[in-house]
Amino acid sequence: MKKQIHLALDLSWTQVETQWRIPGSLVGPHYPEVGLFEDVARLAEKGGFDMIFFGDGTGVPDTWGGGIEDAVTYGVAWPRMDMSPWITAMSRVTSHLGFGLTYASTFMHPFYTARLLNSLDHITNGRMAFNVVTSQRRSDFANFGYDELVDHGTRYERLEEFVDVCRALWDSVAADAFIWDAKTGKVADPAKVKAINHDGRFFKVKGPLNVMRSPQGHPVILQAGGSPRGTKAAAHVADHVFGLTKSIPLMQKQRAELDEAIRLEGKDPDSVGIIWSIRAIIGETEAEARAMKESLIAGVSREAVGVWLSHNSGYDMAQLPAYFSLAELQRRIIEANASPVGFVGLLAQKYGMDAEISRDEFFQHGLEAATGYATALAGTAVQVADRMEEMFEETGSRGGFMISLSQAAPRQALLNMVDYLVPELQRRGRYRRTYEGRTLRENLAS
Ligand SMILES: Cc1cc2nc3c(=O)[nH]c(=O)nc-3n(C[C@H](O)[C@H](O)[C@H](O)COP(=O)(O)O)c2cc1C
Repeated sequence: MKKQIHLALDLSWTQVETQWRIPGSLVGPHYPEVGLFEDVARLAEKGGFDMIFFGDGTGVPDTWGGGIEDAVTYGVAWPRMDMSPWITAMSRVTSHLGFGLTYASTFMHPFYTARLLNSLDHITNGRMAFNVVTSQRRSDFANFGYDELVDHGTRYERLEEFVDVCRALWDSVAADAFIWDAKTGKVADPAKVKAINHDGRFFKVKGPLNVMRSPQGHPVILQAGGSPRGTKAAAHVADHVFGLTKSIPLMQKQRAELDEAIRLEGKDPDSVGIIWSIRAIIGETEAEARAMKESLIAGVSREAVGVWLSHNSGYDMAQLPAYFSLAELQRRIIEANASPVGFVGLLAQKYGMDAEISRDEFFQHGLEAATGYATALAGTAVQVADRMEEMFEETGSRGGFMISLSQAAPRQALLNMVDYLVPELQRRGRYRRTYEGRTLRENLAS
């Protein structure tokens, strides 16, 4: 059997990519009604998707121009709800579809998070994934008491300890701890419920978790850092990695670095997939798909791009001079403690650190990065499937794709995946016809 491609539906994007402006989009008076999300969940399950995934952020972006005005005006990275209650509703109208929920270990407490994920894993009957991120956004930090970003390395040390504590808490109550013996009146066996007595650099947690073990025990852990330090953390904590699509050589480099880091952890790299973030714009003809892509790009405002880039790099791009060196900009971003491998880092790899670039060129590249259209696969279902198969094979045939769709995208955009792309992947023997497992972990393993 050919290696199977896994598919997740990434509903993290908000407005910068302008899908909400297409006729038929789900915004307006009905958004964010829970029924809309239930509808999307049913369709995703019809398409055999492994999971619906929600990235997260908690601040309205305020790095661009030092204020929130343009972010608010153009709806960049907001509104964002805490999706955990929505997942509960979506799980009630589906039976196999999984759900990925994001929280930042930089701000959350592992006891609360482990308990919440345990509850959701019960409600969904073993279909939860926890995407643990460090966050690099000033407005998120500002809501949790920080004036500046915590330094990059410290964020990852905290993330590793955070997940270690969650895992210990999930193991603190054995699967057979509860006996419910009506004759003796004994509810649970104390020998199977243990304190964890964790006393680390960031957290002090006694435990045990005051809950029953959930169907998966440990929800699937996803992690999305792309820097060398982020890769090391992913190797330590992640069951699967969420990766940014780049050129194939850069994706291969990330895969090789991750494999090496996983081996150093004493684990098997074949068990860890990378789920690459992609945009897919599917049309009946290539020309139709390309026209759709062009019209989406044309609708993006420069301010929205500036907000997005500044939010994700910790540097106010409104301050850029007419010409500047990428090296200088990258130095300032690293100084601000954002990521060394973000958009500017990628641009520097492409053009060389010494390259001078004009503000207009920079924003043109930025537009494509901020919307994901730079790497969007636009074409017929056959063409998109060709490209997906190629990327999958070239990067080690482990994992799959996180297909990005705005929460406000028209229903038709999802139907195009379910009715055209999925059958095309199935015809090639690359994609499930029925769910193999009951839990998300089982489905991702095949
Ligand atoms: C594919 C991908 C998805 C991410 N999703 C989120 C997210 O939903 N919320 C968030 O706060 N940060 C998110 N991040 C940011 C990471 O948590 C991290 O802060 C950032 O990538 C910097 O780490 P790095 O230098 O190791 O890449 C994401 C990063 C990547 C690459």
